[in-house]
Amino acid sequence: MADFVRVIDVNGIPDPGKTLVEVEGDMIALFHVGGSYYAIDDVCTHDGGPLADGELRDHKIACPRHGAKFDIRTGAALSMPAIRPTRAHDVKVEDGGVWVRLRSEAGTGGPPLHGSLPMAAPAASTCCNPPAAREAAGADGGAAAGGPLCEDRVREMLKDVKDPELFVNIVDLGLIYGVTLTPAADAPGKQHVAVDMTMTSPACPAGPQLIADTKRVVGSSPEVSAVEVRIVMDPPWTPDRMTEAARDQLGIF
Ligand code: FES
Repeated sequence: MADFVRVIDVNGIPDPGKTLVEVEGDMIALFHVGGSYYAIDDVCTHDGGPLADGELRDHKIACPRHGAKFDIRTGAALSMPAIRPTRAHDVKVEDGGVWVRLRSEAGTGGPPLHGSLPMAAPAASTCCNPPAAREAAGADGGAAAGGPLCEDRVREMLKDVKDPELFVNIVDLGLIYGVTLTPAADAPGKQHVAVDMTMTSPACPAGPQLIADTKRVVGSSPEVSAVEVRIVMDPPWTPDRMTEAARDQLGIF
């Protein structure tokens, strides 16, 4: 086990307050709240955001990049888009200083946010050709269901595409910025569908799968000639883009 390392004088941070320290080559966010000190990795588990730069409220630190919150006492991820804990470390006050001992592993920090939460009921549909009607008319939801293909129907299809870590569909996550339908020049009666999609972070590891699943799901409609997925990072995704259904599903209140 690593040794304790003195990182700062005991009066070196106001209460409440925070600072960044280095311990054995690792950057550690050190907090002073309610007379106690806490230390966690300066790394947001969503996409590496610098937690020490975030807003501190009580025992919660908010990642400055996309807003995920962590418990500074345990490292637990408290809100989307982070779902894994960051490492929390041992801290002691001795000889007028604050000492930190690195732990090798993150604690469980509680279950993943999506853990065993019940599945939320789907949000009310605004589709011009709602799911029940499409189901009655056939699994493909095609022209036989009545009415031409439209943006709402494409959005309904996209609810079959789920983030592989969060198990929430990309529409309710707020990842779909736009859907554009254009009559296909080379396929009379069919539509070219362009989907403007964002990611929860620029380096989202689920990105390739989400793009492929979007093309597969929308492209399976007999009314679609081709599917184009355009990745849009401006404006960046923020948690407030999620629907109530997604928040319920993730246990965010
Ligand atoms: S990097 Fe921290 S919330 Fe995205």
